[in-house]
Amino acid sequence: MSDKPYVIEQMISAKSIAARIEALAEDIRAEFAGTEKLIVVGLLRGSFVFIADLVRELPLPVEVDFVETSSYGNAMQSSREVRILKDLRGNIEGRDVLVVEDIVDTGHTLAHVLTLLNSRKPRKLRTIALLDKPSRREADIKADWIGFEIPDEFVVGYGIDYAQRNRNLPYIGKVRFTES
Ligand code: IMP
Ligand code: MG
Repeated sequence: MSDKPYVIEQMISAKSIAARIEALAEDIRAEFAGTEKLIVVGLLRGSFVFIADLVRELPLPVEVDFVETSSYGNAMQSSREVRILKDLRGNIEGRDVLVVEDIVDTGHTLAHVLTLLNSRKPRKLRTIALLDKPSRREADIKADWIGFEIPDEFVVGYGIDYAQRNRNLPYIGKVRFTES
């Protein structure tokens, strides 16, 4: 499947992403004003570019940690089964935590991670997703902040991959398969 020819059409420019992140960072700063430390938890691997840009817009004391969940593999299909491949390094009990996701699609990944992190009794747990595909939702979940709502298209770039490629595109593009 991944060797089918495709083109990438720009959907959200690097400039629009940067502007949106500035606005989101202001909301997050307000929500966590006065925090001793905000633990920003990125979901690997797709959130690595987003988290890098987001934390640099946050004028708060920040710690960065990561969780990795099992993913699509190289297919474009989601899985209801979510496994933790890499857990947090730090303790979050009594702490302020922000979970950063690249895309909320079916919502199973975020639902699973939130259940796990909530069981560790953080003081406050909030979530942000760069992209949201509400039409694909299966789990009853919504991120507290969303960068952009998008239609049911397979997207890449700005950290997000198709078969581990295209993460380094500075913009979000949609994958369109071409005739072969
Ligand atoms: P969910 O568990 O179905 O919400 O899927 C979440 C994960 O699937 C995201 O964190 C992405 O890694 C991946 N994913 C969902 N939609 C896309 C897409 O359009 N392109 C690439 N990865 C995607
Ligand atoms: Mg992901």
